[in-house]
Amino acid sequence: ARRLILDVDTGTDDAVAILHAALHPELELAGVTTVNGNVGLAHTTDNTLRVLDLIGRSDVGVHPGLAHPIARRGFPGQKHYERDTDRDMHGTSLPLPEARSKARDSTAVEFLLETLRSATSRLTLVPVGPLSNIATVLAIDPSVVEAVDELVVMGGAHAYGNVTASAEFNVWADPEAAAMVFSAGFERLTLVPLDATHQALVTRRDCEAMAALGTPAGRAAADLITRRIDAYSAGHGISATDAAPVHDAVCTAYLVRPEIITTRHLHVTVDTSSSLTVGRTVMDTRPNAVGEPNAHVAFSADPAILVETLTTTFA
Ligand code: BDR
Ligand code: CA
Repeated sequence: ARRLILDVDTGTDDAVAILHAALHPELELAGVTTVNGNVGLAHTTDNTLRVLDLIGRSDVGVHPGLAHPIARRGFPGQKHYERDTDRDMHGTSLPLPEARSKARDSTAVEFLLETLRSATSRLTLVPVGPLSNIATVLAIDPSVVEAVDELVVMGGAHAYGNVTASAEFNVWADPEAAAMVFSAGFERLTLVPLDATHQALVTRRDCEAMAALGTPAGRAAADLITRRIDAYSAGHGISATDAAPVHDAVCTAYLVRPEIITTRHLHVTVDTSSSLTVGRTVMDTRPNAVGEPNAHVAFSADPAILVETLTTTFA
């Protein structure tokens, strides 16, 4: 089994990724670290515990991470993100039974440092929220990149952003952290931006099939994704009718079905300074690109593969 750590800001799509990573027989979830993002840290942590308790995986440690971006007091243009429509997408608390278990005492940064430093074989890191925890770990010990066989990031956008016209939420929410992570020298960085996740749309019919499995994971995933479809159909996300992207789950699906995405090896940087385009991932797609490629960027994702791996894993 492939050993991984998920770094999450749970959130409805993070929840589906956690269910998938915790239940897939070829994945070994070494721990989950939480970060400020879709909702505040207390809620991302509590939501993560709810998800793991629901499926009897409270053996997986949940480690609370940073409650704020690494270099800013809040999100760039925080007011903009605090629109009610964003809350509609994720809710503050996920609609799942209250958590019975508690977060671990060691923080996300402590857990990541200790696990990576003591690893006898390399691990996969899958951050699907703002990159504040990962950047902090790298600031303390840049050599941990050597313990990571692959970093799989949900974040960024080439054609269009979601939180602003230029930027995708996870990178925008902590642009300095993303800039550090992208230039840290990971042997393989796979970036799954909106360009890919917006192609792997999950439909109401797919949700009905998941609900019909009758399992806690199938029912929960169906309910959470249906809420996303409702929000997108009401115009709260980038336009989609009766279907929604489940961004973070594309990353866990990629671990077991790498053919789900097609990638290009590109030089990617992050804008940390402009007020208009802060958080934009600048991807040099030109034939005569300047700079060494540092990321395998996904430009497409296959919805059939996503739905198939989710449905079989939740059965
Ligand atoms: C990303 O931001 C959050 O809203 C989602 O959980 C996902 O990780 C999409 O831009
Ligand atoms: Ca997320």
